[in-house]
Amino acid sequence: MGPIEEMRPRLALAFSEAVAAYDLATGEHSRRVGALARAVGVTLTLGEADLEALTYAGMLHDLGKLGVPERTLGWPGSLDAAQWREIRRHPTVGAGMVRSCCMQPEGYYCGEFELVATGIEAHHERFDGSGYPAGYAGEEISLIGRILALVDVYDSMTEERNYRRHVFSSNEALDYLAENSGTLFDPGLVPAVVEVARRT
Ligand SMILES: [Fe+2]
Repeated sequence: MGPIEEMRPRLALAFSEAVAAYDLATGEHSRRVGALARAVGVTLTLGEADLEALTYAGMLHDLGKLGVPERTLGWPGSLDAAQWREIRRHPTVGAGMVRSCCMQPEGYYCGEFELVATGIEAHHERFDGSGYPAGYAGEEISLIGRILALVDVYDSMTEERNYRRHVFSSNEALDYLAENSGTLFDPGLVPAVVEVARRT
């Protein structure tokens, strides 16, 4: 095992702690998303590299929220255009933070975390191209990103500690995923998310 492989779990945990320290609810949500995303990957019989990337990308999908001002993140009302711009940067900022772990002083990029970084970058992309930051559609969106999109929405809807929004039951959230299968979400992945959610 090389030095980067040995550092990988520790870096992921340190970043995850940083997210929780900044915003506890986001930190707890992110840990659940990591576990759910991995379980979906197991159901889809993905290989170990993808499962590892799903775990870390799930845990760290909102890492870039460290770059969103606290007043915007905790804003109780509807967001103005400038606040939305700040929020919509977080996938790119988070992916950049993860990629920076792979930059060598001489500028060489090792690519070790690329699956994780592309997953983080894509978790707000939507299957029909209506998401952000790139507006990618279908399989232009990385597989990790398409799984995270589903799991992130499911957990956000059902999060019991969610003080700001209505809390949905698991069945209501799964109905929402099914209703938007093929538009917002990859229809090939929705059944695996339903299966995992029904088990947990
Ligand atoms: Fe996010």
